[in-house]
Amino acid sequence: MSAEKSIHPYLSGNFAPRQDELFMVPCLYSGQIPECLIGGQYIRNGPNPRFTPGKSKPYHWFDGDGMLHGVYFHRLATGEVEPRYVNKFLRTDVLIASEQWKRTLLPSIATIVTNKLSFVRSAIRAGLLAFLSGSARISTANTAVLFHHQRLLATCESGPPMEVSAPDLQTLDWHVFEDREKRLGRIGTPDEWTTAHPIVDPVSGEMMFYGYNIFVKPFVRYSVISKDGEHLSFQQPIKLHDGVPKMMHSFACSQKHSIILDLPLTMSAFNLLSRKPMLHFDKKLKSRFGVIPRYYNAAEDEIIWFETASCMIFHCVNAWDEYDDRGNVRSVSMVACRFRTAKLAYAAGDLAYEDISPDVVHLYYYKFDLQERKVAAEYPISDFPFEYPSMNPDFVTSADGKYVYGGSMREGSFDAALSGAKIDVIVKADYRSLVEHPPENVLDETSITPPRGEHIDTIQLPKNVYASEATFLPKAKSISEDDGYLVLYVYNEIGLDKDGSVKDDSLHSQLWVIDAHSFVLPPVAIVDLPERVPYGLHGTWLSPQQLQNQAHVSAYQKEGEVKYHTNLEVRTFGSIKAIQNLWRWRISFFTLVSEDEIARRLSTAKVLSWFIFFVLTYNIWLALINSIIHIAIHQTQSKLEMFT
Ligand SMILES: [Fe+2]
Repeated sequence: MSAEKSIHPYLSGNFAPRQDELFMVPCLYSGQIPECLIGGQYIRNGPNPRFTPGKSKPYHWFDGDGMLHGVYFHRLATGEVEPRYVNKFLRTDVLIASEQWKRTLLPSIATIVTNKLSFVRSAIRAGLLAFLSGSARISTANTAVLFHHQRLLATCESGPPMEVSAPDLQTLDWHVFEDREKRLGRIGTPDEWTTAHPIVDPVSGEMMFYGYNIFVKPFVRYSVISKDGEHLSFQQPIKLHDGVPKMMHSFACSQKHSIILDLPLTMSAFNLLSRKPMLHFDKKLKSRFGVIPRYYNAAEDEIIWFETASCMIFHCVNAWDEYDDRGNVRSVSMVACRFRTAKLAYAAGDLAYEDISPDVVHLYYYKFDLQERKVAAEYPISDFPFEYPSMNPDFVTSADGKYVYGGSMREGSFDAALSGAKIDVIVKADYRSLVEHPPENVLDETSITPPRGEHIDTIQLPKNVYASEATFLPKAKSISEDDGYLVLYVYNEIGLDKDGSVKDDSLHSQLWVIDAHSFVLPPVAIVDLPERVPYGLHGTWLSPQQLQNQAHVSAYQKEGEVKYHTNLEVRTFGSIKAIQNLWRWRISFFTLVSEDEIARRLSTAKVLSWFIFFVLTYNIWLALINSIIHIAIHQTQSKLEMFT
């Protein structure tokens, strides 16, 4: 086996990470840059490990440090437009600590999805190094990016969002939605974890989100933040039926309701005790959808749970309310990208999954009848793979929305290794019409190339060309829902060798701008980028108004002149300081005066070392205590049942 072939597939080809950071490099382009793009910026997030693990070490695509890639459309004094490319690592605590130790720190997600107790070892080692580096939070912020309350936020579900400055993409600080003073200097806690996919209501400007964790009850908390940052509903507990923590990647919101997805992907240290992986898809469990009012208050409001067959949903498209004759909400409908299992979580780590049959992700419709309290309808509305959904943001949560754009494939689905982000067909689907006219006989195991039809339009990318998520941006004065553009990074894999290694790194990626209404190639504009942009996850479009109205910016734009924040202090957290303090403490410790003093300091050191040990293993102790309590409750209940 050649050296190249032994590289993990998600570290080679166009998944290979970039280590260089480019700053506002002017780009050539062909075609016509639409007027509504000028002054705005497209930004996409994705995993990009600063230090790659050794060849024998486990790795998962979602492990990598977050890196943002952006194209800012700058208007020159001459009136012409000049696209400028920038890419930056998100300077999380994990990245800073990794740079300190010149190695990746976090245990791989691969150890969580396989039955490996090595996760515990890795977690303790990671905790030790992170603690010595002054780290506070474990999120890599590598999943998505969105704009709310005058802030650009990079998200990942294992921590709070990270605020970023645009267009320069410099990392500012964690955003925990609380009084900053209260949290200053405080170590991160699981209650501040936030989904990577909060939803922003385009009319009210409210942002809805939940956070889940696997350590502390309640495992799920729900919040709504106003456009001005007020807490309309904050950290309200969502009680799960079986009390088992789950992995929950996204949710859906209508105008009046939010839908929490309690699906069978359990994520618990308790699984290890029964020789299952920490992340385990339990086919025996039902899928449960919890419908709550938007401003949910756990003390007053009820969660209406709807149970149906087991499935896995990573991304929802949209939800909408339907009313009865008296003006009351009768039902809430939802369209989502539905898998049969959690095979994708394994595929993204190039790991084998027990069920080898195909698991095709379809657009899927659910109708939850609030009055009858039953699932009134559920069926697939696409017979081809569909993932990475993107809508006109002005129609999110709205009953008027009907178009969704997404990625598909000529062959295969999103469940196979290396296909997770390699899109070669872009689809525009009228999901509301598909709900009325669904395809017949859709089989979970059958994957077909998306057909062009009455309610479906497709763009097939040229041979060897693959894209990551396409993001919709509306025109400034749009006249219809699809009056706007799709922006996406594409890469021609002609630059790759047969084994996936990059043979020609001079072949760079491009940014394509596609008219979403006519939905045809060639793109209206193609921007040639100065480097290869690795396949990634989710992106967003920042309008010129959003760029100019960022909270941290006092003089972003002055008389048409862009001000970049080149002089922002580089985020170092306390890492270097912590190491220096440790060194100073060591010096003072050995500069001793008497044997009594040695004994006294050794005793202090002993207490300190125990303290450090407990802090480092805090999460594990919590999980163990949780497990013991679970067992105790379960056994007590069993005994009580025996006596009654
Ligand atoms: Fe996602």
